[in-house]
Formats: sequence, C-alpha cells, structure tokens
Amino acid sequence: MARCATAVLVAVVVAMLVATPHINATISCEQVVIWLTPCISYGIFGGKVAPECCSGMKALNAAANTTADHRSQCQCVKEGAARIPGLNYTKVNELPDICGTHCPYRLTTDLDCSKVN
Ligand SMILES: *[C@@H]1O[C@H](CO)[C@@H](O)[C@H](O)[C@H]1NC(C)=O
Ligand SMILES: *[C@@H]1O[C@H](CO)[C@@H](O)[C@H](O)[C@H]1NC(C)=O
Repeated sequence: MARCATAVLVAVVVAMLVATPHINATISCEQVVIWLTPCISYGIFGGKVAPECCSGMKALNAAANTTADHRSQCQCVKEGAARIPGLNYTKVNELPDICGTHCPYRLTTDLDCSKVN
C-alpha cells in the first residue's frame, strides 16, 4: 500500500509540474520534469537517492549546456519546486554532490534565474 500511495503522490506532483507555463528553449520543461521527478522523493523525505535521479540529472546536464538552457531549466525547476509541499531545498541542493554531477545554480525560493550562466 505504501508503494501505491507513493506512486499516486508522484503522479500528482508530476501533473502539477507539467502544468508549469512553457518557456522557449531547446529543452522543454516537460523533459526537465521527467528527468528530475525521481529526485523529488529525496528532496522531501531524504533517505536513499534513486539511481534514476542521478541519471536524470546527468542527462539534463548533458542536454543543457548553454546559458539559455541553464536559465530555462532553472525557471522550470524553481517554479516546479515551489509547487511541491514539504520540499527541503537543502536536500535538493545536496543532490548534485551525491550524484557526482554539478548544477549551475543552487535552488532557493528567491533564486534569480536571469543571473544563472
Ligand atoms: C551541447 O548539447 C548539444 C545537444 O545536446 C550537443 O549536440 C553539443 O555537442 C553540446 N555541446 C557541448 C559543448 O557539450
Ligand atoms: C532539510 O534538510 C537538512 C539536511 O538534511 C536538515 O538539516 C534540515 O533540518 C531539513 N529542514 C527541514 C525543514 O526539514
């Protein structure tokens, strides 16, 4: 039952994230959401980081390699994160280190994506 409830929660969160307005860029917000959805559980509950989360982050970093990509990805992640109740930004910011990858910005509620490079 717990697994089922988690699946429902994740589906709801994904639905909320996908509702985020679109921004013109080479990578879509939907794609960013698909890659990062496996990371949401760690950002809320902690525990083990899903391998899918790390592979998603790496895929995102490989695809988003320009300033414009980083900014649109930032806006997508920021708006999406703001809709997730209970998300711990400290934990989210641990993820790039845990996964051995990097992120061009640190997620905060007042992050200014137009300054991300
Ligand atoms: C940036 O990403 C594009 C598309 O994913 C890729 O074709 C290109 O080789 C990448 N450039 C660098 C410098 O990694
Ligand atoms: C968020 O996560 C950090 C690091 O795991 C923890 O120290 C902090 O207490 C958490 N904050 C909340 C509000 O749960």
